[in-house]
Order: sequence, then C-alpha cells, then structure tokens
Amino acid sequence: MSYEYIEVDASIGAVGAEVSGVDLSEQLPADVIAEIHQAWLAHHVLFFRGQNLSPEAQANFAANFGELDKYPFMQALEASPHVIPIIKEVDAKMNFGGGWHTDTSYQLTPPKATLLYAVEVPDVGGDTLFADATTSYSHLSPALREMLEQQTGVFSPKLVHGEKGDYKSSEAEKNLGAAYGGDATFAESEVEHPIIRTHAETGNKSIYCSIPHTLNIKGWTRTESLAIFKFLTAHLTQEEYVTRFHWTPGTLAMWDNRCVFHHALNDYEGHRRHMHRVIVKGERPA
Ligand code: SIN
Repeated sequence: MSYEYIEVDASIGAVGAEVSGVDLSEQLPADVIAEIHQAWLAHHVLFFRGQNLSPEAQANFAANFGELDKYPFMQALEASPHVIPIIKEVDAKMNFGGGWHTDTSYQLTPPKATLLYAVEVPDVGGDTLFADATTSYSHLSPALREMLEQQTGVFSPKLVHGEKGDYKSSEAEKNLGAAYGGDATFAESEVEHPIIRTHAETGNKSIYCSIPHTLNIKGWTRTESLAIFKFLTAHLTQEEYVTRFHWTPGTLAMWDNRCVFHHALNDYEGHRRHMHRVIVKGERPA
C-alpha cells in the first residue's frame, strides 16, 4: 500500500505500524485523515511517536474517526470530558488494562477505537502487547471456525468491575485511584455478542470473546466456555501474532478493538506511568 501524506513502517512486529510525517496536534486535512484511517484498517494499531498532545488536541484528533464515547468506570479530566487519566503511581501494585482483552466488549456498542497517549512512562517496562485477532483466527481449522461462528457469547463487566470483580478489592481500588468508580448496576449487567465478530469496515472475521469480559458461551457452562476462551487466547497470543510496543513520552497509539487484543504489562514496580485515554464509539458487534 502506498501513502502520499504519511510514512508507514510495518516492520515493528506481527501487527501494527509506526506512522511518521504528521503532527497530530494540528487540524489535519481530510485527505491526511483518510490515509491514516486506511493505514489503521490495514494494520489494526498505529503508533505515532514524538507528538505533543494536550488532552484537548488528543480528543480533537480522535473525533476525526467518529463520535467520542465515555468509559463507564473512570472519571474524565475536568476540563476534557472525553479524556481519562490512567495513572499507576510509584507505590501502586496493580495496573489498569492487564490481561488480554479488547476494550469494554461488555457494552452493547463497544468503542471501535482507543487512543492512548503516553504522558509519563518508565524507561524500562510498562510496554503494551498487541495481538492480531484476525490473522490468528484465519489460521484456525475450517471446522473449528464453522463451530465458533455459530456461537453467541454472554459478555459482562462483572468479572472485573462487579461486586466480586478483580478491581473490587480495597487494594485494587486504592491502586486504580480516586477516578475509579461507575454505576454498580451496569457493573453487573450482561449483553450478548457473537464470539467471532465481523469487522464492519473490512468484513474480516476476528476472535472477540475474552477471559475477563465473556462469562460464557450461550447454552454452555462457564467451565466449558472457559476452556474455549483459554484456547483462543493462547492461540491468538502466540509470538507470530504479537507485537510488543515500548512507549516513549509523547507517543499516541490508536487501536481497533474490533480486530486486535491488547495487554498492558505490569513489570515496572516503583516507577510511575501516566497515560491519557480517549475512545471512539463503535457499532454493535455482528
Ligand atoms: C487499556 O487497556 O486501555 C490500557 C492499556 C495500557 O495502559 O497500556
């Protein structure tokens, strides 16, 4: 694929590409946005290093790709209602976004895009792993794909954010900071989506169920379902589908939750990591 306005380097790993030649703090012309969008669909996650983005500039850039959404469990910055701070302090033990997942797949219409900007990152550690859920899916046997494509998943925030969820211990709440909260009723809610979803723009199929966000396959027990979720997670996170991204301050990542999983590593105890996160509304998974 050739680009007129941006440079795209896809040699960084199995999935994703680094994009250069563009200043995201500027109001970019439609042709440039269209190229970025094209590169994003092709590579699933784009990384823009060396940016200088205020919360407002980050939200403005994100709004080029659709209506901005609000994350249900974290308060936004007071002056920027769509930007949430994700901070792990030096004395915190737990991080946000650890464990392989796509963002808020337990919502009726989960966000299509997440834009994460590195304000402050440790010199070593704090990387994020990304896994290609489309290519990995295409490498499963036709018989398994046929079976999976007939299955509906029951998705819920409760495993993470519910009364008995991973983020509910007092230690976790302390680590996640004062901005963490949300609607307790929504935290226990359930919604049905296909466990293999078809991308609304490319038509490609991807693995969509995940260990933290999918309770079970409809009609299956949790134990039976978990065996499938664990198998699919182990399959898609093999080295051949994964890119490990090392952040530098001023990097913006923009990933497509419809076709890529991610996992924030928690290997930087004693160091601070501070990110700004914006999400763009998606469509109901089909
Ligand atoms: C997230 O899951 O949105 C956070 C990922 C990260 O902090 O690297």
